[in-house]
Amino acid sequence: MKQIYIQTFGCQMNISDSETILSSMTPHGYQQTETLETADLIVINTCSIREKAEQKLRSYVGRLKPIKEHSPHLRIAIAGCMAQRVGKELLRSMPIIDIVMGPDQVRDLPELLEARDYSGKPIVRTEFEPEDTQFNLDHRTYRDKSSGFVPIMKGCDHKCTYCIVPFTRGTEKSRPLDSILEEVGFLIHRKGLKEITLVGQNVNGYGRGTAFDFPKLLWRLAQIPRLHRLRFITSHPKDANQDLANCFRDIPVVSPYLHLPIQSGSNAVLKRMKRLYTHEEYRDSIAMFRTAQPRLAFSTDIIVGFPGETDEDFQDTLKLVEDIQFDFAYSFIYSERPNTPATRLKDDIPLDVKKKRLFLLQKKLQESANAKSLKLVGTEQELLVEKSYEKDGAFYVEGRTDTFKISRIATDRSYAYHDLMRAKITSTYETTLLGSDLTLETHPTHQSTIHTHASL
Ligand code: SAH
Ligand code: SF4
Ligand code: F3S
Repeated sequence: MKQIYIQTFGCQMNISDSETILSSMTPHGYQQTETLETADLIVINTCSIREKAEQKLRSYVGRLKPIKEHSPHLRIAIAGCMAQRVGKELLRSMPIIDIVMGPDQVRDLPELLEARDYSGKPIVRTEFEPEDTQFNLDHRTYRDKSSGFVPIMKGCDHKCTYCIVPFTRGTEKSRPLDSILEEVGFLIHRKGLKEITLVGQNVNGYGRGTAFDFPKLLWRLAQIPRLHRLRFITSHPKDANQDLANCFRDIPVVSPYLHLPIQSGSNAVLKRMKRLYTHEEYRDSIAMFRTAQPRLAFSTDIIVGFPGETDEDFQDTLKLVEDIQFDFAYSFIYSERPNTPATRLKDDIPLDVKKKRLFLLQKKLQESANAKSLKLVGTEQELLVEKSYEKDGAFYVEGRTDTFKISRIATDRSYAYHDLMRAKITSTYETTLLGSDLTLETHPTHQSTIHTHASL
């Protein structure tokens, strides 16, 4: 068997694409390795969202140089968003690269490798495919994880002025329903998974312009027997409507957790970002979702230091965060991306001001996240197990509640990574829930159960 090493940077789309890349190689005699030095093929799935993400790639490739010198047969492929954005220019600064392929080429690596060896020259392929060939994912190989990632759309038709994604992923396309059903059914019934995460840049824009929209998709998937939890990332506030809120109320398998990026609490900044909503509309959406499902946990993304962001604008963001009390959040300093509309705005905020704002924001976000977790002390929670390990003679399980909170639970036996367990939450460490295994309390003479891993 040949060895393939895959390094994934970036978001849920890249994680999902890396699974497709791996699956495309397994019929050609490749198996995944965790050791760079023994790899015959190294694939780096890249991200362009911020300048830092691109720097990471450059230093990573720099570290591969000595490995390539020692094994000239080694092939190195750069995939994903940075490959799409920079294209053949990558070869100039990184001559050890053999293949540059965009997000629409995730199934084409075997062919590209052959072309590379046949021509004796590096190969660059980054055309957007007009059709959704990427969605034919039969025989996909999956990560050894409890949640199965299923792409339901690709690309993005929003044109947020700071964002590189429309350039790297092309226009929005929804995956045909049959193909989604087939993959979800396969993961649940053949792989034994209990949780599915639908992934896309704007999942709630699914089926745009057709009668079969995202809430309808959720209702349809909920009919699949033995699907226990259904999640999705990412949703756009513009398409977060009452039908979607009702799904959290009316569909038991839809997990009460919503990632809804706000980006800023200032209407002036939101307008310059072209986010298509005001902070009042965003607040109303949150209220609507909370009314429909009071248990809903919320997370968000926020950018600080967008061009022209005044102190008052930033205070509006702090105020919004204070009012909404997110369960957790990702926050970033604005990073200017080539050719995006925001490059025409003057990046007029000094770096130390941006850093100070990020610090203040993260402090506030951390407070609400900690408080949200603390509120769960004393409750019983169902966990989906992600990891089980032994330390100093005791067993621990790490898993997630249906509200996506990371939990670490003491137990006296090992669990498989997609088992369900009931736990009593007794304390927290920052946002992590700590507690004990209720299965043991209710069955004091409990005999260790044999858990079989699904054949992944
Ligand atoms: N499609 C999703 C998220 C896309 S990227 C959405 O629309 O919400 C993930 C996050 O990265 C964004 O929500 C945003 O907060 C951040 N981001 C995107 N471009 C950025 C940039 N140029 N600088 C800093 N952060 C950025
Ligand atoms: Fe980027 Fe906006 Fe599309 Fe999200 S919705 S991927 S932030 S352009
Ligand atoms: Fe990065 Fe591309 Fe995702 S730019 S965030 S990997 S869509």
